[in-house]
Amino acid sequence: MMFPFKKRRKEAAAVPEPVAPPVIFPDVCIFLVERRMGAARRGFLTSLAQRKGFRVMHEYSGVVTHVVSEQNSFADILGWIERKTGRPMQSAEDQESPHILDISWFTDSMSAGKPVPVEARHRLGILGSPVSKDKEALLTVSSYACQRRTPLTHHNAEITDALEILSKAAAFQGSEVRSLAFSRAASVLKSLPLKLRSAEEARNLVWCGGHCQAVIQEILEDGVCHEVEALKVSEQYQCMELLTSIFGVGVRTAERWYKDGVRKLSDLADPNMKLSADQRAGIEHYTDLKQPVTLQEAERMEHLIKDALHRFVPDLKITMTGGFRRGKQQGHDVDFLITHPSEEALSGLLQKAVAWMDSQGLLLYHHTKTRSHVHAHRRSTHMDGHETCYAIFALPSLDSSKCEAEAGVPGARTTRRAVRVDLVVTLYDEYPFALLGWTGSKHFERELRRYSWHEKNLTLNSHGLYDAEKNCSLPATSEEEIFALLGLQYVPPTYRNA
Ligand code: UTP
Ligand code: MN
Repeated sequence: MMFPFKKRRKEAAAVPEPVAPPVIFPDVCIFLVERRMGAARRGFLTSLAQRKGFRVMHEYSGVVTHVVSEQNSFADILGWIERKTGRPMQSAEDQESPHILDISWFTDSMSAGKPVPVEARHRLGILGSPVSKDKEALLTVSSYACQRRTPLTHHNAEITDALEILSKAAAFQGSEVRSLAFSRAASVLKSLPLKLRSAEEARNLVWCGGHCQAVIQEILEDGVCHEVEALKVSEQYQCMELLTSIFGVGVRTAERWYKDGVRKLSDLADPNMKLSADQRAGIEHYTDLKQPVTLQEAERMEHLIKDALHRFVPDLKITMTGGFRRGKQQGHDVDFLITHPSEEALSGLLQKAVAWMDSQGLLLYHHTKTRSHVHAHRRSTHMDGHETCYAIFALPSLDSSKCEAEAGVPGARTTRRAVRVDLVVTLYDEYPFALLGWTGSKHFERELRRYSWHEKNLTLNSHGLYDAEKNCSLPATSEEEIFALLGLQYVPPTYRNA
């Protein structure tokens, strides 16, 4: 990119420079910023440039056309110039504003033996444009996802979609490490407040090197990543996607089935297939369950659950968590946390409530896991010992509820739709930890735990926060308190979409 050199001010000639070799490039007037460069290096660079016929000013003034600095931000330099001149620099059209440059323009010019045209890569920023903030944003991305804010919608979906496919494919091949590397890069890009324009911009981002850098470059330059396109149409990837989308089927099971020749849902109907109760239910309701649950449906589900559970304990606290709490408009299931200050009130509650809902025809399938003791001293990432009911509900459709109301006959001509629901009962003092653990996203949770362990030497799970060294747990009464205990700035749920 070519930029015309800035015109010198008319008064320029009136400001004489101290003794210096003859000036060969009168249109260029350099000022080297001493801050962070140091006086000695500045002196050396000044005489180097002067010997090559450049004009270098010792004091900053309006005649300067090129401000060169090292390891300073655009904002630092602007602030410095504004303090010097006593006037704000705002407009990029201002003919008298100098170029604010990184040392790279200076070194390029010295090697060329003449002033090289200013290119985007030389600039710290452009006045009145967001480039400055952008560059700062790219340089200040924190390493852990729990130290960043990740909104639901962001600016780099094309790239993150591709990285997430690569992550999934790596997981399907049993390579957790590669899968995590792609997830981390995707998560960093989701937190960026701007759209990446070149692979060069991503060069200094945490977790975005190597293979990820190549993917980013390919998408920015060609619009697609060939490796990803090939995966999307590969039989193995498509089949693994299909099988792992069945309720009760994890990567390992899907892999085994794939090796045994399973390619489509109907292959699972083979009487020789050993299927768990979850999997049978998942296959039976597959068509409904693969249809995303809308926010509206989740809210109707919430209403239905509250109505049922409050029959047994009226002041039960019931909270919708998971993706919907993070502001998602749809999800693969609906997650609820249930608690009460009295442990007695919670005892036997789930069993009674589930039996009642079943009797009302609200349940298509359920399996309940009782509470298990989670060892505080064991550092486990997937420990979750809460009493949980994994269910498939029959959610009456809006139209059919209206029909019932109009006809006054419950169940008459009802159309229902299968919806996956998780009901989690937590002890009152574990509730903030369960809320934090079940709000997700999965990557945000993984990063919170990694941060707790590596940076604070603490074990975090959805029951509590433990100090293994002192052999004690650190109680908290809210999510905010947990973040504070970890020395983290609070991240609201809508910014946990890592
Ligand atoms: P989900 O799998 O429901 O994810 O788990 P989600 O973010 O709500 O996504 P969709 O919209 O349903 O597709 C929600 C959170 O609960 C945790 C997960 O780690 C995730 O952060 N979780 C899930 C547990 O802690 N234990 C479990 O047994 C299941
Ligand atoms: Mn969910």
